[in-house]
Amino acid sequence: MQLQEDNTVSRRRFLLGAWGVALLALFGQAGSALFGFMKPRVEEGGFGSEVVAGRVEEFQPGTISHVRKGRFYISTLEDGGMLALWHRCTHLGCTVPWREDEGRFHCPCHNSIFTTTGEVVSGPAPRPLDLFPIKIEDGVVIVDTSAPIIRAEFDPSQKTYA
Ligand code: FES
Repeated sequence: MQLQEDNTVSRRRFLLGAWGVALLALFGQAGSALFGFMKPRVEEGGFGSEVVAGRVEEFQPGTISHVRKGRFYISTLEDGGMLALWHRCTHLGCTVPWREDEGRFHCPCHNSIFTTTGEVVSGPAPRPLDLFPIKIEDGVVIVDTSAPIIRAEFDPSQKTYA
């Protein structure tokens, strides 16, 4: 009789231990999955890191080029100066398309309009389109999308030249 009681207690302890291990494994997996979900996804060479926009000669004066993987436009002004404009509207964050027919950026959400330098022409947007720093290495235009520059207005010193 004593032996059977010991076996019962032992079985109970074993089951409690097994449940404990199973719960620890479950919480561990859940925590790991949650961490992976919450961690910002910065893809090498994509938005959130340095993005290769292209070779300098691809950006002719007076043109706007959308670099989708970096979420910015390269606006090459008439004097050859370049700006990397984040395509995110400074009002509520909609993606702002370039409208070739208007010669302006025109946000479809609430009609903010921006010039080729990103300045606000009209609409509820409170400030110009944000900028990303540009560097040019061996004739390649590289944009650092990890560090947006919030600005109150356009200033010629914001341009980058090849
Ligand atoms: S989000 Fe662009 S105008 Fe409102």
